[in-house]
Amino acid sequence: MESVARFKTRWYLSLAFKVSVTSILLILFLIFVLSLFFFNHIEKESEAELRKRGVYLAMALSHQAVEPLLYEDLFALYRLLDVFKIKKEEKAPESEEGIVEYAAVYGREEKLLAFVGKDLYRKELEDPSGFDWSGKEALILPKTSIIFEVITPIVVNTMQVGYVRIGITRAYHLKQVRSLKRELWGMAAFLTMLGVLVSLLMTRRYILPLLHVIRGAKNIGKGKWGTQIQVKGRDETAELAGTFNEMSVKLKEAFERVQRTQEKLIRSEKLNAIGKFSANLAHELKNPLTSIKLCIQAMNEPGSSGVLDMEEREMVLNDVQRMDEIISRFLVYAAPPRIHLSPVDINAFLEEVTGKYRPRMETARIRLKFFPAVDLPLVFVDRRKMEEAVGNLCLNAIQAMPDGGEIRIRTSINGSEEDVEIDIEDTGEGIDETIREHLFEPFYTTRKKGTGLGLSIVYQIIQEHGGEISLKDKKEKGTIFSILLPV
Ligand SMILES: Nc1ncnc2c1ncn2[C@@H]1O[C@H](COP(=O)(O)OP(=O)(O)OP(=O)(O)O)[C@@H](O)[C@H]1O
Ligand SMILES: [Mg+2]
Repeated sequence: MESVARFKTRWYLSLAFKVSVTSILLILFLIFVLSLFFFNHIEKESEAELRKRGVYLAMALSHQAVEPLLYEDLFALYRLLDVFKIKKEEKAPESEEGIVEYAAVYGREEKLLAFVGKDLYRKELEDPSGFDWSGKEALILPKTSIIFEVITPIVVNTMQVGYVRIGITRAYHLKQVRSLKRELWGMAAFLTMLGVLVSLLMTRRYILPLLHVIRGAKNIGKGKWGTQIQVKGRDETAELAGTFNEMSVKLKEAFERVQRTQEKLIRSEKLNAIGKFSANLAHELKNPLTSIKLCIQAMNEPGSSGVLDMEEREMVLNDVQRMDEIISRFLVYAAPPRIHLSPVDINAFLEEVTGKYRPRMETARIRLKFFPAVDLPLVFVDRRKMEEAVGNLCLNAIQAMPDGGEIRIRTSINGSEEDVEIDIEDTGEGIDETIREHLFEPFYTTRKKGTGLGLSIVYQIIQEHGGEISLKDKKEKGTIFSILLPV
């Protein structure tokens, strides 16, 4: 749950990014393929159109050349070709003649009679009778990369009297195709940008409800039960948002039910604990009270001296003292959790508190060793209560080593510098598994004179400080109690 809440999608892994990139790539691919198709088509169309115009011009020329040819009027022939002679830039590029690079008329035996154009193209005609004219009115031959030639026969009454040869340049058409291509590329770029923009907007529109769901889920994760998100439209994301809202309400109801049940449980558990505690307390007080009662009854019996002897007085005093101890420890235990925190140098504090138990330790032949950590931060503690807690742990340690031993006090700070740890170790009898589970229960004791409230009080004090107490595993004989206090 925690890891899900902390999980943050990297932008390049986000759904919006993936969908946008996919649609942009798709648009680019489509525009590219369409452009290729169009360019190919335009080039083919333009070439066909140019050939048609070339053939038309050659045919027209061959018709017009019939008469001058029959009369062998070279002057008339040249006049015919004059129309192609005008310099290119003066020719209207759209005009029919604008595409003619050179033109030649041949008479009988392929003799060149008239020619206009660059000398480069002036030449005799290779015998065109060798060409396959079957059904064709014109022959189209490639010349250079941008020029092709059209050759048509000049026919009079089915008799072939000569040929017309014209060179058609593609230069102007190629220019036109290029400018058309430029326009098309511009349009493709515009369409691509439009497509990208639309795809980004659509992606945002479709992904947005998902982002709302994620935010809503995070809010629920933070404990804002019943979080609702906007539902717009009727598509699947709107359905998801609607389902999320329903789930959120149900979760809230379920959570409140669990909370109510928990509160009920806690209340009944508390009552149970109070009942158990009172029963224990009554039981603990009943023993010394019974023994006092028996003493007094014996004193009142006929034949009795009416006074307590030395031994009886001692017994009654012990019982009263025990009751007094039980009640005063109970008062400490039951005291309201009011603590007065102040910043404390924990090493100095521990030395001071444990120092008070030194005389007792010396009589019990117990050595006290101190292992303070350097540079410990100050810890906020209630000095009086913490003294009670550490004192109880020291007393337990002393009581666990009737034949002497060693008490080691160790302080340290954990890696993240959030807690100070205090270890109180002894080399005593150790604690059995069976005892461990009852250790912090009130009135649990294995000692004859113990009240069993010592560790309960320690536990309560550490809890009030927001800390923790636990039993550490120990290889050698003995016990280690470990206290964690927040810095
Ligand atoms: N350092 C220790 N070594 C071995 N056993 C321990 C140690 N500390 C506690 N115990 C066990 O835990 C029991 C409960 O301890 P707790 O301090 O709560 O009560 P107590 O010491 O018996 O009574 P009181 O504290 O009133 O004198 C003890 O009776 C003892 O069996
Ligand atoms: Mg004790």
